[in-house]
Amino acid sequence: MPHNRMISFVPAEMADAAPYHLLTSIVAPRPIAWISTIGADNVPNLAPFSFFNAVAGFPPTIMFSVSYRRREPREKDTLRNVRQVGEFVCHIVDEVAAEAMARTAMDWPAEVDEMREVGLTAVPSTDIRPPRAAEAPVAMECKVTQIIPVAGATNVMVLGQVLRFHLRQELYRPELGLIDTIAMKPITRLGGPVEYTKIGELFHLPVPKLGK
Ligand SMILES: Cc1cc2nc3c(=O)[nH]c(=O)nc-3n(C[C@H](O)[C@H](O)[C@H](O)COP(=O)(O)O)c2cc1C
Repeated sequence: MPHNRMISFVPAEMADAAPYHLLTSIVAPRPIAWISTIGADNVPNLAPFSFFNAVAGFPPTIMFSVSYRRREPREKDTLRNVRQVGEFVCHIVDEVAAEAMARTAMDWPAEVDEMREVGLTAVPSTDIRPPRAAEAPVAMECKVTQIIPVAGATNVMVLGQVLRFHLRQELYRPELGLIDTIAMKPITRLGGPVEYTKIGELFHLPVPKLGK
């Protein structure tokens, strides 16, 4: 393999938000968790988080990471709500929902119900208090299991165990027990504030067996 000419950077020597921008263009595409929560005051909230992934299969557990607002130490509504109520719904954002998702990322006052604001239909969850959005292809009802500050960072990692999966029926592949991810049309985030992708080309790649 040819040797590429490389450049390197040390985060501590980079300007302000530069490491964040570089990292998010490297660790990409990232799925987007559209998180519904409710506060102790019963005000619902919906916001997107692309520091998001699955971290365990059994029990199914996901994480998302919430940053503090850069200019003020106030916690985002989502973090405050998961601390207070310990529950959230994680939706997958599909192509149709892209613009509504972006609008829920605006810095709405805490008393605004973003789900209503962007025209989504709030449906009561089965096992938890935060509502789910009927339009999303997948909604996972979760209970918070851990809230972990990220060392040295202004981020807090929220881990939640999935108590119930809600799946749009036409997307479910019962013979495999999978969602048809391509038909779900999720959007994923790249680096910078405006770049996203749709799913690209599918290919199959089994892990080879030792000794063959
Ligand atoms: C696609 C996308 C991904 C985002 N990912 C994150 C993230 O991982 N962590 C975070 O703290 N904010 C993230 N944001 C910003 C939050 O959505 C935004 O701060 C929002 O206003 C928080 O809402 P809240 O105060 O109602 O919780 C993201 C925004 C967009 C558009």
